[in-house]
Amino acid sequence: MCGIVGYIGEKDATPIVLNGLKKLEYRGYDSAGLAVLENGHIEVRRDAGKLERLAALVQESPLHGQVGIGHTRWATHGEPNAGNAHPHLGMTGDVVIVHNGIVENYLELKEELKEKGAVFTSETDTEVIVHLIERSLMTGKTLEEAIRCALLRLRGAHGIVVLSKDEPDKIIAARIGNAGGVVIGMGDGEMYIASDLPAILEHTRKMVFLESRQMAVVTRAGARISTLEGEPIPYEVQTISWDPVSAEKGEYRHFMRKEIHEQVRSLTDTIAGRVDFDHGRINLPKLNLTPALAQRIERIYIIACGTAAYAGMVGKVLIERIARVPVEVDIGSEFRYRDPIINENTAVLAISQSGETADTLAAMEEAREKGAVLWAIVNAIGSQAMRLADGFISMQVGPEIGVASTKAYTAPLVDLYMLAIHLAEQRGEINEWERKGLVSDLRLVPDLAGRCLDREGEVEIVAQALVEARSALYLGRGVNMPTAYEGALKLKEISYIHAEGYPAGEMKHGPIALIDGDIPVVVIAPQDPWYEKMFSQIEQAKARGGQVIAVATEGDKRISAAADHVLWVPETPWMLSPVTTVIPLQMLAYHIAALRGLDIDQPRNLAKSVTVE
Ligand code: AGP
Repeated sequence: MCGIVGYIGEKDATPIVLNGLKKLEYRGYDSAGLAVLENGHIEVRRDAGKLERLAALVQESPLHGQVGIGHTRWATHGEPNAGNAHPHLGMTGDVVIVHNGIVENYLELKEELKEKGAVFTSETDTEVIVHLIERSLMTGKTLEEAIRCALLRLRGAHGIVVLSKDEPDKIIAARIGNAGGVVIGMGDGEMYIASDLPAILEHTRKMVFLESRQMAVVTRAGARISTLEGEPIPYEVQTISWDPVSAEKGEYRHFMRKEIHEQVRSLTDTIAGRVDFDHGRINLPKLNLTPALAQRIERIYIIACGTAAYAGMVGKVLIERIARVPVEVDIGSEFRYRDPIINENTAVLAISQSGETADTLAAMEEAREKGAVLWAIVNAIGSQAMRLADGFISMQVGPEIGVASTKAYTAPLVDLYMLAIHLAEQRGEINEWERKGLVSDLRLVPDLAGRCLDREGEVEIVAQALVEARSALYLGRGVNMPTAYEGALKLKEISYIHAEGYPAGEMKHGPIALIDGDIPVVVIAPQDPWYEKMFSQIEQAKARGGQVIAVATEGDKRISAAADHVLWVPETPWMLSPVTTVIPLQMLAYHIAALRGLDIDQPRNLAKSVTVE
């Protein structure tokens, strides 16, 4: 989705803004632009396509100044061309804006503005904002007042950043709702603004996150934050510990592969400091779970989208099995509109890598209104989901740049396992012996993940056999049913091969009709309580001429004799097996896409943070 970067200081803003936009490329976009205050006027460069196009434009026609803003756009209104790319200037050319979000009432505002003489030069909804600001400025208001007036007229969720030639010593940023974040980076005599941390992390780690309906007036000396209505707000500066280098590709060709390989470390960090192996206890202090609260909870809803929702499905099995609390998993976009039955004894647990997914945030707000206890498992520090929740578990995986989520899938699996144990203990649902056994299994996880990664060469050979496939079926059952969904999602999003994940037991109710010699069937069949059922699935697929790729436990001779290809995983305690079974599927999708020569980190039509509905 759209990304924003801003700079005010003594340095040349152009390379800083361009470099920041480069760091946001992973979010997905179709056009980009920047505006710089140059010798008292605003200069804009923008173009459709990749950032290289914008960089080339800037090289042909340079622009220099110490204040600048930039944007990568993911089109919602108007096709991705240079005219619709941000920044957008007003009619006078004195004010310029970049914007994330959708102006829901833009048609009526546009009509009104046209009647008053505004001339529109783009098809975007964003342009109405700059016209509104300009109209207010004409009545003698300051830039700050004019922006407030404009924002109060907008419906929808927004992040905006504005620059004016008449007030050249400031950039104004504001946030309404959940159209992605706005973060202010505090430098020394210079300040940064971004929609996401990676854009400015190389310059500063001291950050202030804007909440909804807040506005920041940012000067070289610092920031002043107030509500949209003008009420000053004290703010907290947070120090971010992420290492900026970890957001670079290093030796890897793609972020996705780097992130797959980072899973040994991310899983180690997920466990680190949270597990007391001596006493068999889990320590999740930020979750704010007291025994009284744990005993009060009658039901848990897990809400999430995409990969995060599949992690939630594994969580359902784990929490129900270990803590004996009923769990429902809901897709954010469904939950928010179906008037779910929730009360103060319901816990709603959101899972989100970005913490900015609009549907997940809206579902959280719905849950909040209905009085639920609100928890979140989130990666992006300071994100809206983290701030909305009553308690959270932070994923500890560092920045995930590849659009296809990998390390931010396996970490929440472990978080959910730990949550289930913690909850079970607080509710008195588990005895010490069982608890110590489950906790002790956690120490195996990083090494087991590493052993999956060591088999990448074998996965690559299987990828070569599947590179021409046009469609694939992924089957799983029990705790590994979501692994089938997630394996299929990974394949489709980066290789553009149609793939379907299915609960294996449902095959006979329809999808088995698809099986012939052309369709690869990926069967997830580790040694878990569903093993025998999955083995008969392999036989059924083979009997119909299917090409079977099994994910199986090392040394399983039955499976190696029955399947065409095997992706081996080490023996893993079954409740943690989704962590290991998914890793070969991540690598399989990656290598198929790499063999097909596709843009793995920025697949077509996709964005890393989905901040629109
Ligand atoms: C994952 O590979 C996907 N790109 C996507 O499904 C993602 O998991 C989903 O959009 C949710 O994102 P979130 O975790 O940031 O909320």
